Amino acid sequence: MAAYTSAHAPLATADALGDTASSASTTTTPDDDDDGLHDFASDSGFDSGSLLGDETDTLASSILNHRMENGRQYHAYRDGAYWGPNDELAKEILDFAHHMYLLTLDQKLHLAPVQNPQRILDVGTGTGIWAIDMADQYPAAEVTGTDLSPIQPEWVPPNCHFEIDDVSLNWTFPPAHFDFIHIRELFGCIPDWDFFFAQAYAHLAPGGWIEIVEHSVQPRCDDGSMGPDHFYHTWGKVVIEMGDRFGKSFTIWEESRERMERAGFVDVVEVPYKWPMNGWPKKNDKMRNIGRWNQLRLMDGVEGFMLRLLTQVGGWSVARAQLHLAQMRRELKSYRTHAYLPGTVVYGRKPLSG
Ligand SMILES: C[S@@+](CC[C@H](N)C(=O)[O-])C[C@H]1O[C@@H](n2cnc3c(N)ncnc32)[C@H](O)[C@@H]1O
Repeated sequence: MAAYTSAHAPLATADALGDTASSASTTTTPDDDDDGLHDFASDSGFDSGSLLGDETDTLASSILNHRMENGRQYHAYRDGAYWGPNDELAKEILDFAHHMYLLTLDQKLHLAPVQNPQRILDVGTGTGIWAIDMADQYPAAEVTGTDLSPIQPEWVPPNCHFEIDDVSLNWTFPPAHFDFIHIRELFGCIPDWDFFFAQAYAHLAPGGWIEIVEHSVQPRCDDGSMGPDHFYHTWGKVVIEMGDRFGKSFTIWEESRERMERAGFVDVVEVPYKWPMNGWPKKNDKMRNIGRWNQLRLMDGVEGFMLRLLTQVGGWSVARAQLHLAQMRRELKSYRTHAYLPGTVVYGRKPLSG
């Protein structure tokens, strides 16, 4: 399948991945040349500034590079397409979030009533932690995780594999192929969600399930402890604005249900959840625990979430961006403000016919 190999770069051999992991901090980036220009043309298969080669092996070699930017490491394939770093700290933050989702969903990996799935797709898999857990939970299933970054581990269950792929392009998997498609935290990643859900619909088998887990970036409060001038309002407004300028919005958490129904999914269920900004919920052990993890995730994570958006998209100086991030970290320490991030888990089914 020629189309398959050009758009999907199989995620390398174990050796290549091992090299990536071990040499990440010293990898030469495309920007490290003397002239400061990308040297794509010297790598056969690249004819311009595009990182997309025609051959799978050319693509596979290019993805092992990384881009360094303001002290953080970013993906190279589809350079600039994603706002977040892919370095060790960023991976740790993703795994914190995975732990928080397990706490939120009472240790469940999904809420959709999936029965005996054979083919599972995790789109934008990140470190692959969900895909790996799913492969363990469903040993008879083949689990595929896709991402722009080759940051998944080398040793994974035999029924789990990873591919480098840009999900905003036409999907080249066979039609009606998967029994379950999972999406988590692709906010700010997708230029056209209707196109995305149409692709997911086409590649799900009849009766197959889709589940999307997303949260807001705008803290909310129900008890008046977050005044109208609170910095959390500024924080939320800035993230939303940066996403809009970037052309990839951060509001999917409140749109998933409607968009999935519009794409043709049926039996759509929306389950809301809340992530407290820190451990302020004194009387609710589960929420306090999630809040404490969220505080840690945000304290260590806000730089990765926002530095590229603020400096590259917003045109802020690094100093101004760092001040903004420092103010957020200060607010995260206050237990007087009872704020939380609302989120949704939305799942639905492709009809058996149609
Ligand atoms: C916030 S992380 C979430 C990772 C994972 N889903 C999880 O919940 O742990 C977003 C991931 O989407 C990936 N991503 C962003 N844009 C993408 C695209 N166009 N195609 C494929 N992956 C993409 C990023 O590389 C990153 O790993």
